[in-house]
Formats: sequence, structure tokens, C-alpha cells
Amino acid sequence: MRISFCALPIVLLFSGVSASLTAQQPAAPHLEARGAATQLIVDGKPFLILGGELHNSSSSSLEYMKPLWPKLAAMGLNTVVTPLSWELVEPKEGVYDFALVDGLLAQARASHQRIVFLWLASWKNGMSSYAPVWVKQDTRRFPRVVERNNEVEILSPTAAATQEADARAFGALMQHIKQVDGEQHTVLMMQIENEVGVLGDTRDHSGAANKAFASAVPPELTAYLKAHQSALYPELRALWDANGNKTAGTWAEVFGDTARADEIFMAWNYARFMQAVTARGRAAYNIPMYANTWLMGEDAIPGDYPSGCPEPRVIDIWKAAGQAIDFYAPDLYAENFELWSQRFHRDGNPLFMPETRGGAAGAGNVYYALGQEAGFGFSPFGIEDEADGKSDLTASYNLIASIAPLLAERQSAGAVHGFVLGKFRSSVDFVMNGYTVHVTLDEIFGDHASTGFGLIMATGPDEFTGVGKGFRVTFEPRSPAAKQVAIAAVDEGTFVDGKWIPGRRLNGDENDQGKNWRFDSKQVTAEKVTLYRFE
Ligand code: DGJ
Repeated sequence: MRISFCALPIVLLFSGVSASLTAQQPAAPHLEARGAATQLIVDGKPFLILGGELHNSSSSSLEYMKPLWPKLAAMGLNTVVTPLSWELVEPKEGVYDFALVDGLLAQARASHQRIVFLWLASWKNGMSSYAPVWVKQDTRRFPRVVERNNEVEILSPTAAATQEADARAFGALMQHIKQVDGEQHTVLMMQIENEVGVLGDTRDHSGAANKAFASAVPPELTAYLKAHQSALYPELRALWDANGNKTAGTWAEVFGDTARADEIFMAWNYARFMQAVTARGRAAYNIPMYANTWLMGEDAIPGDYPSGCPEPRVIDIWKAAGQAIDFYAPDLYAENFELWSQRFHRDGNPLFMPETRGGAAGAGNVYYALGQEAGFGFSPFGIEDEADGKSDLTASYNLIASIAPLLAERQSAGAVHGFVLGKFRSSVDFVMNGYTVHVTLDEIFGDHASTGFGLIMATGPDEFTGVGKGFRVTFEPRSPAAKQVAIAAVDEGTFVDGKWIPGRRLNGDENDQGKNWRFDSKQVTAEKVTLYRFE
């Protein structure tokens, strides 16, 4: 992963010195490890993507998009995750058409939006429907995956010619984006392909793939497993352990003669292909690039979901295949939002969610992703469906946008917790700022809120700032010598240009007569609490 580490103390990064340096020469968007978080740095500052992903076909037409941009901006979005297909960029081999790219950039800028482009090229949802017809037609030059029971339109990742054609087009695209956007930074990141993997079989059974599968596992893969053994994803480590930690042998010998070996084999082949495509793009214009994942069901076998997709259990295989891809991202529609977020936010992989649920679910989950997992972006799918009328997401996005600089700074200090409460869990505890913080669903006159969500930041000694709705908080001092603790004051407020402007002093029913820090269920709010100690 190419993440630059910040050698300067955090305080310097916000000083005039670094500001004037970046003003002279604005670096391209990049990822940077800042304290406890890996952040997306845009024009010298951490940028939290409050985004939404368009339906697959919307951005293929500028006319179709025209009325959408202002509506998306009005929803509180700052970034639109925008499909861009190989078939439209290179309709004839070697003939590029960037009019759509230029038009989308102009429209985005007019609505003060940024873009994450999805490079839909050799694969989209496992299939190859977005490849240009000149690629699809030429099955000799661009061979397909062979499945045991299906005829499929899936390009084989083992084919060098396909990799080269995709890489060449992607390189040309990035060269163009650098020319037209290298100073404005409307394009923040690139997603390479979309949810790749073999659907319908556990692996490619073409002649070339069979030959590779029966050959030795590449030594760079086994060397990686050995060097990173203690940090491997537990399931992969257990599989490699169970097969004797071999550093040489065929795929079935090293990983066992099961569908898991097939999945690992496909992961390696897709990863080699996509690392090479990504590297070609980065050589032209170096901005963050990632791969996304169709998540497997807990009991599913490879092929029910795209076999080889960067599932958590094979992300190490992808990393062993190259370093050009910065990180791996979940398309998270599954019930267990927290568990899947944790499976991706590990071992240096930061959390960005290119596709997830919007509406009421997204309005809550965004606090968990950015608060608890230090995520740098969130983007519900089919966002234009929410652009007409009132979206639950809007209030959350507007509130988070107002605290964004503080939130980014507190993420890097490791001083944020986020949560979603409901039927599945009505309370959560965490330790922060010298206290055990106990958060429960809000309740007044015996009525429980049905959902609650938010995030809490430590913002000073005995001081916390929170945003969200439908929860209440109590504090327990951690140090043995601590005295008793109680609420000194709760203020509702707003952040204007990063400055806290207090509003109502919340007391009486609004803080349960001094007993609880409360966020009622009416609407998302920002509140600050200070505590005092006594004998
Ligand atoms: C996941 C895909 O990545 C998206 O492009 C889209 O097809 C959605 N599924 C549809 O639910």
C-alpha cells in the first residue's frame, strides 16, 4: 500500500508553515497515516467523503446527469461515486473519447462536488459486460473464463493481452485526468474494476488456468505468507497452518484440495492483473486507487459470490501480488455492518465504503464507519433515488460536514467512538479520556427510542462533544483515586466554520435533571458536555 507517513507532529501540519508549503504546490489527493487514522488528504487537509454512488448507467449521459448534480449537492453530498466504462472511453481500439470525462468534471465542479470514478473495464460484478465490443468479439486474443457448466462472458484474468489492453486504456485515462484535473483535484480516487471474480464456478477451468493451477505456487506468494504470518487474516492463516505452512508446491498442495484453494488461485490471478492495471494508471497520475468487494455470505462457496474477489480472507493474497492498489473496500449491504467494517479496517487497511445502504440505515451507519472505524468516506448506492424529497442521510451528512475538521483531527488522535443502537443492541461501553463511557438508547417517561446513533469525541479534560440522536450517556471515572463525577453543563450548539457556537443550555428534562447527557430522538444535534468531580 502506498501511504505516506507524516513525519511532522500533527500540530505542525495545521500550522502556517505546512499551509504555505501546500499552497505553493498542492499535492495530488493522497492517503496519509496521521496518528491513529489513515486519511485522504486533499489540498493539504483531511477530506471526509460524504458521498453517494450513482446507479450503474446514470453517468453514461451528461443530459441525464445535468439535473441530478444540484439535487445531490442539496442532499449534503460532497462527492459523487461515478461509473465510467471502458466501452465508452475506448470504443475503437486505440481511439479514446474523453468527452464524457470532461463533461462530468465540468458538471461536478459547477455543483461543488468531487468525484470518485469507478473504472468499469474488464469486469463489473464478475462479468465483462463493460468491455468494448472489439474486446468481447475477439475471444482468441482476449480469452474467456471456462466454467464446468456454463458459457460465460467473463474475461480470463490469466490473459496477458487483456491485461495489457485494460492497462493501456487506464493509463491513457489517468494521463487525461492529470491534464484536465491535476490542479483542481475534482477527482479524488479511482476504483479499479468492480466486484471482480468468477461467478458460477470456483475457478477458471480454461487450458491456461488449469496449467497454472497444476504448477507451483509463485514463490513471491509463499514468501509473503511467511514474512507476514502473524498478521495474516485469521482464516487464511488457519488454512495455511492446517496444510503445513508449505512454501513450495502446487496450489492444491499448499492450500488444500478444496474450493478454498481455487478461490486463492483466482484471487492471485485477479490481483496480479489489477495491480498491473493500477500501476499503469498511477504512473500517469498518482492518486489513491482501490478495489471493492462483493461480500460473501457466511456459508457461501466461491462461485456463489465472485471467486477471487478481495474478501477479507484473501486480501493478503492481493497484497502479496503487488502494492499498487492502496486499499480494499467492502460493498456493505450485509446485516452485520460492524463486523464487516472491522474485517476491512485491519492490518493497515483503512475503511472507505463505496457502496452501502442509504436511507435511515445509512444515516446511522455513517457515524459508526467514520467514528468507530476512523473511516474516511461513506457512499450509499443508488444515491439519486434519495435525491428527490427528504433523505434521512441529509441531516447526518450536514451535521458531519459541520464538524469535519474536528472529527478528522480527533480520528488521528484516536479519540472518537461511533455507534448504532437498536433492537439488536441497546447499549455500548467504551473507554475514552479517563472515563468509561456508557451509551444507551434514549428514554423519557418510560418510552425508549427505537434507534439511536452518533459519535462522541474527547475534546478536552472532562469534556466531550457528541453528535447524533436517540441516545443518552453516563460516565464513570477510571482512575482509582477519582472522585465522584457529575454533569457540570450540557450545551447544544453548532459548528460554524469549525467554531463552536453554543445554543440552548440543556438541563431539566433535557438532561434528566442532571443525571444523563441526552440526545433525544427528534433530530440529529451536536452537544458538548463538561463534567465535574466531587468528594
Ligand atoms: C453491487 C454492484 O457493485 C453495483 O454496481 C450494483 O450493481 C449493485 N450491486 C446493485 O445492487
